Amino acid sequence: MKKVFVKSYGCQMNVYDAERMADMLASEGYSETKAMEEADLVILNTCHIREKAAEKVYSELGRVRELKQERQAHGRETKVVVAGCVAQAEGKEILRRAPAVDVVVGPQNYHNLPALLKKSRTDRVVDTEFPIEDKFDHLPAPTKAKTQSRGVSAFLTIQEGCDKFCTFCVVPYTRGAEVSRPVAKILDEALRLADAGVRELTLIGQNVNAYHGEGPDGSVWSLGRLLHRLADVPGIVRLRYTTSHPRDMDDELIAAHRDLPAVMPYLHLPVQSGSDRILDVMNRKHTGDEYRRLIERIRHVQPNLALSSDFIVGFPGETDAEFEETMRLVADVGFSSSFSFKYSPRPGTPAAEIEAQVSEAVKAERLARLQNLLEMQRQAFNHGTVGQSLDVLLEKPGRHPGQMAGKSPYLQPVQFQSDRHAVGEIVTVRITQAGSNSLFGEWVGPGSQAAA
Ligand code: 5AD
Ligand code: SF4
Repeated sequence: MKKVFVKSYGCQMNVYDAERMADMLASEGYSETKAMEEADLVILNTCHIREKAAEKVYSELGRVRELKQERQAHGRETKVVVAGCVAQAEGKEILRRAPAVDVVVGPQNYHNLPALLKKSRTDRVVDTEFPIEDKFDHLPAPTKAKTQSRGVSAFLTIQEGCDKFCTFCVVPYTRGAEVSRPVAKILDEALRLADAGVRELTLIGQNVNAYHGEGPDGSVWSLGRLLHRLADVPGIVRLRYTTSHPRDMDDELIAAHRDLPAVMPYLHLPVQSGSDRILDVMNRKHTGDEYRRLIERIRHVQPNLALSSDFIVGFPGETDAEFEETMRLVADVGFSSSFSFKYSPRPGTPAAEIEAQVSEAVKAERLARLQNLLEMQRQAFNHGTVGQSLDVLLEKPGRHPGQMAGKSPYLQPVQFQSDRHAVGEIVTVRITQAGSNSLFGEWVGPGSQAAA
């Protein structure tokens, strides 16, 4: 049996796509391996969101080339595929820069992989045209055993692409226009996942709350409506969704946080900056105060909401005073966890053309200050849960013998001593201690969601 090694970079959608590629190759006779050295087929599923991400791929391809040569010396062939957003953005350039690569395939084309691999016997190939057909219609479902091996929490793509065109972002170019999958197909996949023991679904999309898929009755469904339907799937007790845009948080979606116990009190809602002028140049189409008011409305219906965000520092032209407005917004709103980045000019995006780029030193200083504040908030949030009894979805055995590990509703890793609970159960754990990354606690009873 041939072996395939898939490495994913970047966002959760890439993790999902990597699984779909592995499923498809399984039906072509490939088994998955975690050791690149023994792979007959190496797939790098790449990310183009920031510069470093793309550079990492090229340096990894250097190592892959050595491996390929070494295997060749022993008479073994290795095919190398670059998939994902770097593939989409760089296309042929990858073949030029990385001689080891056989196939370059974009995120909307990977259902063609078997055909592309065949073609690559005679020629190096690039497939990055946006196809008319839906790749999901051509991708086989994994076996039940495979789904089980992936755990009780699963990603499910419901939407792809983005029409927002934030001026710093490559996503609208690499993933293309916004497309929502029909409700019936999402439901099929959810039922299949639940049947294999999945208890938590994270609905994913580049701009997931812009979801507007075709419902079974032919009408257009919003994300709020979809969440209601998925909450009815037997076995599914937790729902999450990511990543959202503030402009697309409609009333129905906010109400779902109030009305559906399965919708977790956690929201990743990137704001990027606290400065109205910067938000405007970023083309975010909202102000800092509009974001503050939106959060107030969501917290009004879900007071326990843990909020997470993305931030960019050193966007072109950002002054010290404008950066301070980001710091103020963070202090005002309060986040339980966040991701923050130095602005990285992406070729082809409008912001990369702005002349007043911010120096590396200033970006580094601002990032350090912002991350310091965000880290203090994260720690404070974690410490705030000490003494509380939280529902924990058990995902795997813990680090030490006799321990179980799972996640709180707020996506915090939780560990506790247990020899009688199984993966997939929801239990109540009283939190006794907050470590730097995990919470620790003791079992106190079944979870409040357990019977769902
Ligand atoms: N530079 C820095 N950060 C970026 N992001 C997107 N594009 C860039 C860029 N050019 C960040 C945003 C986005 C997250 C996924 O990545 O914060 O929300
Ligand atoms: Fe990029 Fe998100 Fe803006 Fe779309 S909404 S352009 S994915 S940052």
